[in-house]
Amino acid sequence: MTKVATPSASSIASADAEFYLPADAFFRACIPTALTFDDVSLATLYSEILPKDADTSTALSEALRLQIPIISSDMDTVTESRMAIAMALNGGLGLIHYNMTPKDQVKEVARVKRHIHGLIQDPITIGPDQLIGDLLAMIEAKRFAFSTFPVVDENGKLAGLLSGNVVKDRYKNKRVSDVMTPRAQLITEKQRAVSKDPIKAADRFFTANVGINKMLVVDDADLLRGLITASDVERITSESKSRRKPARDDDFRLVVGAALSPIRLPDGSLDRDKIIEHVGHLIDEHVDAVAVSTAHGHTAGVGDVVKLVRREFKDLTIIAGNVTSASGVAFLGECGANAIKIGQGPGSICTTRIVAGVGIPQLTALHVAGSAAKKAGVKLIADGGITKSGDIVKALTLADAVILGGLLAGCREAPGEILEINGKVYKQYRGMGSHAAMKSGSAARYGHDKNDTSRKVAAEGIEALKEVSGSVDDVLATLIGGVQSGMGYLGAGTLPELRAKARYTRVSPAGQKEAAPHDIIEVSTRTNRS
Ligand code: XMP
Repeated sequence: MTKVATPSASSIASADAEFYLPADAFFRACIPTALTFDDVSLATLYSEILPKDADTSTALSEALRLQIPIISSDMDTVTESRMAIAMALNGGLGLIHYNMTPKDQVKEVARVKRHIHGLIQDPITIGPDQLIGDLLAMIEAKRFAFSTFPVVDENGKLAGLLSGNVVKDRYKNKRVSDVMTPRAQLITEKQRAVSKDPIKAADRFFTANVGINKMLVVDDADLLRGLITASDVERITSESKSRRKPARDDDFRLVVGAALSPIRLPDGSLDRDKIIEHVGHLIDEHVDAVAVSTAHGHTAGVGDVVKLVRREFKDLTIIAGNVTSASGVAFLGECGANAIKIGQGPGSICTTRIVAGVGIPQLTALHVAGSAAKKAGVKLIADGGITKSGDIVKALTLADAVILGGLLAGCREAPGEILEINGKVYKQYRGMGSHAAMKSGSAARYGHDKNDTSRKVAAEGIEALKEVSGSVDDVLATLIGGVQSGMGYLGAGTLPELRAKARYTRVSPAGQKEAAPHDIIEVSTRTNRS
């Protein structure tokens, strides 16, 4: 009887090693073909990691750490303060776009840095001389869902609290001052005592003061500075058990970044004074990063802006781009950038590859760029082309974070009106290189003058619509859930482990078909939560 040889453990392992290659061997084997997300798949590995335990934190510089490796794009249909607040509350970062005046951009940054979750900073207040009947009319006209109001005098000083119990028709002729709880009987909290962690402070306050369900916050002059309700605290504390930590700076403020435009003088040279002055104002508001965002970052002009900002602001985190080459990464690193954006033409609204014929499919671009990143001591950010959580996992095997445009543009926190077309709801999403966006200010990003855009300048982006996709919380929960699943499949407890362990295989068109749902009729039993 012939004996059948059983494969040894080492030959089993070498079969894996032969067919599923680490990044450098894999991308080299594909030369000169460049690959993007759907061209590759990751091999699973032995794992002791449960997805829920996978740590998604990352860093863009020594100073700037994020809890999730996701950044919202500096586009005028994606990131203003509302988006940036939602991103930071979920542990990520928002980059405020620059299609607005420098003054307005500083204000947007300030809104994020001053946001205190749960604290209503401008509560609706009333005066002691108002009649209850007037309040009833105001509640009706403004459709307020509440009827308890702090009472303040003409200087904003706390005078009392009007309970909803007395905001009734039978008291319509009474004055607020006759029926309110006066200041002397109110238990309040000092602004400086709660500012570090208002939710924790409010939680303690409501436990200690049974029956009170509004915490009024005052400053040392007894001016009303905010209000926290017990129901908000309960909602936020129960949410935060299931949510990751917000991304905050050392002073407990949410983190935020701002895009910088290479502002130029009429003769075409950089307006150094204006750039420095603007970054100075952003820093006064404690901005955590600036992003020198252009379509072509491997240029003298972008290098000069990075050098200029680095020279003036030694500790500021600088993101710069976009490039798709190792020499581009080395160049921007030498100029002083901390993190480099990789991506030329992969974006869902980009037409750079069609219009200019340039750009590299995103995964090869990330790998090639990555070969210079370690030496240059910089982080890499994969910017554009991401349409699903699996793409993020693939990008994170080669980069430290990703930038999302299209995936976030349909969220209710993105700027812009909701449009209804044939019963479906949409938000506008446009490339920063589209004619309309360039007219609003982003022309410099594509090397054009704003005033030239009425003349024949080639647009490198289109105007589009995205279906409304609910809240940033929901979208990020799904995306991060997918990222953690990917980490679990690769046995990676952290993102550096994911990068070290990743093994790739090439996917054929038939393999791409196999990867998506096929040969079924899809039904959905999920209710729409938006
Ligand atoms: P996604 O795929 O997430 O891409 O929608 C967002 C990224 O696309 C880049 N971007 C552009 N690229 N023309 C381009 O070639 C454009 O008009 C344009 N607008 C944005 C940008 O890097 C963004 O983060």
